[in-house]
Amino acid sequence: MQNKIILTGVTPSGIPHLGNYVGAIRPAIQSQYDYQQALYFIPDYHSLIKLQDAKLRQHYILHNAATWLALGLDTDKTIFYRQSQVPEITELAWILSTITAKGLLNRAHAYKDLAAKNLEQNEDPDAGISMGLFNYPVLMAADILAFNAHYVPVGKDQIQHIEIARDIAMRFNHIYGETFVLPEAVIDEKVETLPGLDGRKMSKSYQNTIPIFLSSKDLRKLIMKITTNSQTPEEPKSTENCTLFTLYQAFAKPEQTTALAKRYAAGIGWGEVKQMLFELIDQELSTARERYDHYVAHSALVEEILAEGAKKARSIAAPILKLAKEKAGLL
Ligand code: ADP
Ligand code: TRP
Repeated sequence: MQNKIILTGVTPSGIPHLGNYVGAIRPAIQSQYDYQQALYFIPDYHSLIKLQDAKLRQHYILHNAATWLALGLDTDKTIFYRQSQVPEITELAWILSTITAKGLLNRAHAYKDLAAKNLEQNEDPDAGISMGLFNYPVLMAADILAFNAHYVPVGKDQIQHIEIARDIAMRFNHIYGETFVLPEAVIDEKVETLPGLDGRKMSKSYQNTIPIFLSSKDLRKLIMKITTNSQTPEEPKSTENCTLFTLYQAFAKPEQTTALAKRYAAGIGWGEVKQMLFELIDQELSTARERYDHYVAHSALVEEILAEGAKKARSIAAPILKLAKEKAGLL
């Protein structure tokens, strides 16, 4: 076991999908016993940026928490909490924002992409962009630095944010003296960014997701909807940039992937690949499904678990925040 801290979270701005599962939740749960401490949390303050429906937020928070719990998060060993119940994080976020160069945030892709899109449409570059969206990487840095986490398992699209957190930690240490650990992203190299139903990145923003927990019937129905090309079954097929193949690979054992690649070369019908993909995913997730339904039906139990986790999280974050405040001459 490594004497290190691992931390991650998935924003509750939608029902967690297979991309979240493969990119963040599954690797996080697989590593929960590998480190001295695992901290997994629900970034509910992050969800304020894109979602302004209070009821829906509560719904997503519950489903997000139920997902982690159903998939095997061990709350005796890990600390599982809601960001907004750990005020040390937002306190630290302010301190960090004062030493973060605005230029660094100008380059953060969530902001940069939106600004570029605005310009393309001859709009003001900042049209529709809130300070929350702009500052998002600072809050994310605070999420990580408040616990001096070493490792952050995330999907590839989040690497830039971890690098920004690292930059911010370095800058604070440089100005006020050694305080923060420099975090590193942990990426599952075997897993590409998972494509969604339409072949683009599976993302809540594109409404092309496959939720983690569906009934077998609904899961199969959605998989059958995945876009494919019009090649006939007999034609040899390329595995490159193939949505079905990439999804299959994310759930299969290496020998299963090799076997499917051979079938592609020999010619296989899309319907058959879809059925194979369905069976593979259904097998991996079917036992957790019941647990998920149980937690969703018992929201008070989930809240209790999260409140307990927040207490433990605060006991770790408080001394780190205190040190940062001391270093900055605030105490
Ligand atoms: P979304 O794009 O649906 O809003 P988030 O940005 O909330 O997803 O991502 C939450 C976590 O899940 C991050 O660690 C992210 O890297 C991972 N993730 C999201 N979508 C994918 C995907 N399509 N493939 C792999 N990982 C993903
Ligand atoms: N930005 C991540 C997402 O979009 C969620 C997140 C917020 C996070 N703070 C974090 C992930 C800290 C890892 C570490 O889902």
